[in-house]
Amino acid sequence: MKREKFSSRLGFILISAGCAIGLGNVWRFPYVTGKYGGAAFVLIYIFFLLVLGLPIMVAELAVGRASQKSAAKSFDVLEPKGSKWHWYKWGAMAGNYLLMMFYTTIAGWMLYYVYKMASGQFTGLNADQVAGEFTGMTQQPGLMTGFMVVIVLLCFGICAMGLQKGVERVTKFMMISLFIMMIVLAVHSVTLKGGHEGLKFYLLPDFGKLQEHGLWEAIYAAMGQAFFTLSLGIGAIAIFGSYINKERRLTGEAISITALDTMVALIAGLIIFPACFAYNVNPGEGPSLIFITLPNVFNAMKFGNVWGTLFFVFMFFAAISTVIAVFENIISFATDLTGCSRKKAVLVNIVVVIVLSLPCVLGFNLWSGFQPLGAGSNVLDLEDFIVSNNLLPLGSLVYLLFCVSRYGWGWKKFTGEANEGKGMRFPGWVRGYVTFILPLIVLFIFVWGYLSKFFFH
Ligand code: PHE
Repeated sequence: MKREKFSSRLGFILISAGCAIGLGNVWRFPYVTGKYGGAAFVLIYIFFLLVLGLPIMVAELAVGRASQKSAAKSFDVLEPKGSKWHWYKWGAMAGNYLLMMFYTTIAGWMLYYVYKMASGQFTGLNADQVAGEFTGMTQQPGLMTGFMVVIVLLCFGICAMGLQKGVERVTKFMMISLFIMMIVLAVHSVTLKGGHEGLKFYLLPDFGKLQEHGLWEAIYAAMGQAFFTLSLGIGAIAIFGSYINKERRLTGEAISITALDTMVALIAGLIIFPACFAYNVNPGEGPSLIFITLPNVFNAMKFGNVWGTLFFVFMFFAAISTVIAVFENIISFATDLTGCSRKKAVLVNIVVVIVLSLPCVLGFNLWSGFQPLGAGSNVLDLEDFIVSNNLLPLGSLVYLLFCVSRYGWGWKKFTGEANEGKGMRFPGWVRGYVTFILPLIVLFIFVWGYLSKFFFH
């Protein structure tokens, strides 16, 4: 069967950006940045995006485009006979499912907040009461499950409509509206009274603050965030490489995707940090940050309900554009592996993903006694840690080594693929760096991060 392609280059860029731009930018980036002290952390993060993220994105796109397959089959197609790279398909698949196991729940929160904003339920509440609303929600497993199920059905529904008619059409619309709305909100936020303290926190590096949790832990977190935000390491970007033709070189495409993603994260910070400081919310709050900060901000604003509803609609867009992209990948795993139809893959996975998403929901209430990563942690933290700090960096290493090593696909075939078409070449002079230094950086940070998180604390 011929593989369906995107209808346009813009479609490809926006969908890959839609996969990259998600909760990682609008929810995870602000709270992780808040936790590790602001601007200094942002600098390290941007550095990692450029030196680690970009080359790995090119590698993933190349593997996808050359193999015309998802991660379930791409290594089988490209690897030298007798080698074992294809074992990583299980890592990639586990990564996609694990990611969705918590992502669907948080996307559900976004939808719930759209409803609460639109129906004016935050109006007149003070800061503590707004925080109480969030805690109240996490104590209701039925409610959270309901919204999670809606997300799963909606996103699989869009995938079932096909690549061009479903995924491409819907995501394109959502991404363009997202860009416009974010700029409007950022302009508003930076002009808030009392917001400039937040801008200082966000834009003026204070390296002392990085030490609060240990320097290595901060660096480790920055690396995890860089891989997370670019969707690297589990074949989520590679799949979109398999849906394009050879008209454009891949380095330029990777730069566009990375640039869009970084812009959205940075703008999200501009929306959130000034608001935190203007309304006395601790930016180091953790995963609940935007759910507690922003309703306060909107409360204090003229037509706050309208702005708030729009804000959460667009957060919701960011989240489900990623869910749709990852579901597309999950569907493609199934069709590549078993040859089943798209419809069947969708039906089976609806059930699988809903069941797998339950532990995250329960982790906040019925199972809150389970605190795998220390006091106060829950299932979400564990799942996020396994994905962001393990599967993504190590998986990224697999993709990279596969592309640069002669025991894998090899440098020549990799750069041959990356450089096919028009646009920017993958620079030859970086070969030494990406082959020897980049993998060592990732490994080194990985090992130190582990040691400092679990042993030196
Ligand atoms: N990049 C996505 C986000 O920022 C998360 C993601 C990670 C998606 C890995 C796919 C693979 O929300």
